[in-house]
Amino acid sequence: LFGAIEMAPRDPILGITEAFNADTNPAKINLGVGVYYDDNGKVPLLQCVQVAEAKLMEQKTPRTYLPIEGLAAYDKAVQELVFGAGSEVIQEKRAITVQAIGGTGALKLGADFLKRFSPGSEVYISDPSWENHRALFEGAGFVVNNYTYYDAATHGVDFEGMLASLKAMPRGSIVVLHACCHNPTGADLTQGQWGQVIDAVADHGLVPFLDMAYQGFGAGITEDGAVVGRFAATGLPFLVSNSFSKSFSLYGERVGALSIVATSGEEAGRVLSQLKRVVRTNYSNPPTHAAKAVAMVLSTPELRQLWEDELTGMRVRIREMRSAFVEKLKEKAPGHDFEFVRRQVGMFSYSGLTKEQVGKLREQSIYAVDTGRICVAALNSTNLDRVVDAVAKVL
Ligand code: LMR
Repeated sequence: LFGAIEMAPRDPILGITEAFNADTNPAKINLGVGVYYDDNGKVPLLQCVQVAEAKLMEQKTPRTYLPIEGLAAYDKAVQELVFGAGSEVIQEKRAITVQAIGGTGALKLGADFLKRFSPGSEVYISDPSWENHRALFEGAGFVVNNYTYYDAATHGVDFEGMLASLKAMPRGSIVVLHACCHNPTGADLTQGQWGQVIDAVADHGLVPFLDMAYQGFGAGITEDGAVVGRFAATGLPFLVSNSFSKSFSLYGERVGALSIVATSGEEAGRVLSQLKRVVRTNYSNPPTHAAKAVAMVLSTPELRQLWEDELTGMRVRIREMRSAFVEKLKEKAPGHDFEFVRRQVGMFSYSGLTKEQVGKLREQSIYAVDTGRICVAALNSTNLDRVVDAVAKVL
């Protein structure tokens, strides 16, 4: 049965963590996976989460099954975060939200749902996109294409190219858009450009699927989520996946959600009923713990404030690391201009390092993604000099 099975390649991102874990050099540095580390190189357990978890432990609630769509208090809190508390799509009951197994789980639910109800559509992802987007949508049975996005020469968005790609897509195509903090490039659209993208999506009958895994790591929670409200205002149907892996530092808890906006409350009811079948036949219903903690933080004013402050702290530290990286590289590699790293937003920088250069960094136990993506959120005041020296050397 298994005799002819070939060895699969390592995952382009999590495979790097596997190689990093196997490295015995105590000075190893992992700039591969998108994980925020504090200045001591530790993944933080946020204060707001600690308080919520302590309260949950006191409550000693039984761990019975959650509803298929997840914890009601969580789904409500997430919906208000994603669309804004007073949003029309919530008031008109056009938006439905289900708890998901992280952002990846939310994308997979959406992909399976779309494949069932729009089987002939093709999917378009940005060029480049998160490494797992293509595999995930192909795994759900879709043909996956690229749309123009990144301009390596400017380290920014090739916006004319992107618009041309959108306008050339057949009606009904599913277009995966990064709501903020584009992964892997760190190059985001301006608010003006989003307006043109929304018009193109509406005019050409496309199905937008917004992936929002980094809300709060760009300009702020509200600013980063603003594009969702703009899509909601169009009255178009669309999907949004979101994740609390990064913003709550709850990576291993796999806590995210999928929201779908329908054109009426009645339609949304039918959509939810079918989405529940996708959940039930995949993993039945989601886990309780982190959803309870996140729901408590989001809906308790003091904890919510604490979370927003802690998230601001993470965002600010990443910006500081961007600046420090640029300044130090100016000294160590004067012939090279890395100013663009300061302009990029979110956890990542598409550094422009080639696969060969990334390979040479790895020989020094510094791990990055083969495409040259580095996680700026893994830099700290202790490892920065070593990273800058190594980068200068491979340049
Ligand atoms: C990343 O891009 O590094 C993160 O989203 C983690 C992952 O699952 O790939």
